[in-house]
Amino acid sequence: MAGKIPNDVIDDVRSQTNIVDVVGQYVQLKKSGNNLFGICPFHDEKTPSFSVSEEKQIFHCFSCGRGGNVFKFLMELEQISFPEAVVKVADFVGFSLAETYRPTQNVQESSEVTQFKQLYRQANELFTHILMSTEAGQPALDYLHERGLTDQLIETFSIGYLPDQADLMLSFFQNKEVPYQTLRQSGLFIETQTGKLHDRFSGRVMFPIRNAQGEVIAFSGRVLVKQPDQPKYLNSPETVIFNKRKVLFNYDLAKTMIHQERKVYLFEGFMDVIAAYSAGVINGVASMGTSLTTEQLALLGQQARELIVCYDGDRPGIEAMKRAISMLQQNTKLELSVVVLPSGADPDEYVRQYGAEQFKTTLQNGVETPIAFELRYLKQGLNLNNEKDQLDYVQQALAVVAPIESPLEIEIYLKQIEADSGISFATLKRQLQTLRVKRATQQPLAPAPSQYDYDLPPEPGTPIDGPPPIPGHPQATVTRQPQRLTRVEHAEQEVLHMLMENDDIRLQLENNADFSFVHTPYQLIYELWRAFLAEGKSTLADFMGYIPDDLQALVVQIDALDLPEEASQEALNDCLFVIAQNNIEEQLREAKIALKEATKLGNASEETRLTLEVIRLVSQKKLGN
Ligand code: UTP
Ligand code: MN
Repeated sequence: MAGKIPNDVIDDVRSQTNIVDVVGQYVQLKKSGNNLFGICPFHDEKTPSFSVSEEKQIFHCFSCGRGGNVFKFLMELEQISFPEAVVKVADFVGFSLAETYRPTQNVQESSEVTQFKQLYRQANELFTHILMSTEAGQPALDYLHERGLTDQLIETFSIGYLPDQADLMLSFFQNKEVPYQTLRQSGLFIETQTGKLHDRFSGRVMFPIRNAQGEVIAFSGRVLVKQPDQPKYLNSPETVIFNKRKVLFNYDLAKTMIHQERKVYLFEGFMDVIAAYSAGVINGVASMGTSLTTEQLALLGQQARELIVCYDGDRPGIEAMKRAISMLQQNTKLELSVVVLPSGADPDEYVRQYGAEQFKTTLQNGVETPIAFELRYLKQGLNLNNEKDQLDYVQQALAVVAPIESPLEIEIYLKQIEADSGISFATLKRQLQTLRVKRATQQPLAPAPSQYDYDLPPEPGTPIDGPPPIPGHPQATVTRQPQRLTRVEHAEQEVLHMLMENDDIRLQLENNADFSFVHTPYQLIYELWRAFLAEGKSTLADFMGYIPDDLQALVVQIDALDLPEEASQEALNDCLFVIAQNNIEEQLREAKIALKEATKLGNASEETRLTLEVIRLVSQKKLGN
């Protein structure tokens, strides 16, 4: 582990560095007055609001508010720690830094974290040993071979096996005299009422989950033969070293290629990632059996420009893909596309059936934009010769197209819809126009788009001169239109405001398992705030640097709400009530749609279940009123 770098060494490194040279590696800078200006590397912008003061050796962005010295610049840009930034700058200027200061891995790791990581590494060694070198592992090895995995591939992913043998892992660690409390908290065991530990996994092929540094931090175990009463994959619970929201399967092996190609494939399952890897597509990752989280997106966004979603080609896969798209479209700057594999296959099946070359060709030639994909799937199950279906299609298709900004793209899709429906381009265009006007006026709250980031006042005591006036632009004076908020949004903003002032409120919310915000941006802010606190930080200024640009304006707005200093429990309860009511309404709306769908499909058992659900929600809603 690296030693702490003494302050005088840090000062030496900094004094021998000109920030302009370092920043100049990443940003094209132009001199204007005393400072240099360029396009801010931390967010999208067209006019430069990023400045560097050579005299003061600091940078500052007037748009996103980021600023600091040369170390801070690299920390932000490359998402590295302070000591890592110091090392990088030292190397850049040719400063001879003692080896002891070079971080080997995580600079400071608690002994608990180190212990757990060691435990997981040892467990992984045990599993791979059993799989590859023992008789007990033979059935699992046969299984993997049958699924087309070579020994080489098994080794690359360090896949292992834990036989169905009572508490094998427990005795393994007890023989090593690992303390009971460590085992208990490791997540590798389950605990009985009386405090006895038992192996959590048994009779499963064990896939290690590794963090970005390649350390094993969790397992996912697959049964050899799927039984109806047990899950196919069993995952480790979250621990101090494993946060499901932050981890992507195979990111450690994929990241170099993701960076090189600026491109990442998102698959649904581990086996898909492995199959793609075997076919030479090594920049593939999968989330942990859930939809992609903002943390995972942020991680990918550091390396990639393009995200290609390639889920299973069957119905559920396509539905999952649609959900992923609508979530991703709102939350990422990554360029999105979609590949649907023919004949309902998942990537693993496809590679095995058609071979690596065919798989790669399909990945290349089969990419679609999310919109093209959605339009294609809208048509499925509809009979476009039937007038009613035709109208349904046009309506839904226009709704898909309505949010698009680019006139060119709009034209392409309208032509497609014209060809599909036989309704004239001109009519479609008029219809779309109406829809767009409606959207613009009804949309209760579009979280302030990032091009209005100029609205943000520069930080108080902004240390260096403002940006040069932009010809034809009134300087940074666009004031945000006061937003008309709906009742529930008001409540959501109030809760967030109180939450950020008073940590008791966070505890209350976290204890309420049913609680969630109605609108995604607010839910996002809530989750990011908790993640932020969990990292031991707390100031709003720091939080700004922590969240995506397009949420910053919203947080500023929330912070500026004029509310009483002391949050009252009563006010909070009122807000929570309004939010809960709205959630019920939302659920009710969804249940009704699903019920209609089930009726159409003639699925009687679903119909009964959903009818009961609707009745339950209606009565719950009445209770509230
Ligand atoms: P799939 O069922 O599509 O997995 O689930 P797969 O990769 O095709 O599995 P094989 O080919 O049958 O072995 C996709 C992902 O969902 C999660 C896992 O992360 C899996 O990779 N999952 C699935 C679970 O966590 N638990 C389950 O019981 C099933
Ligand atoms: Mn599969």
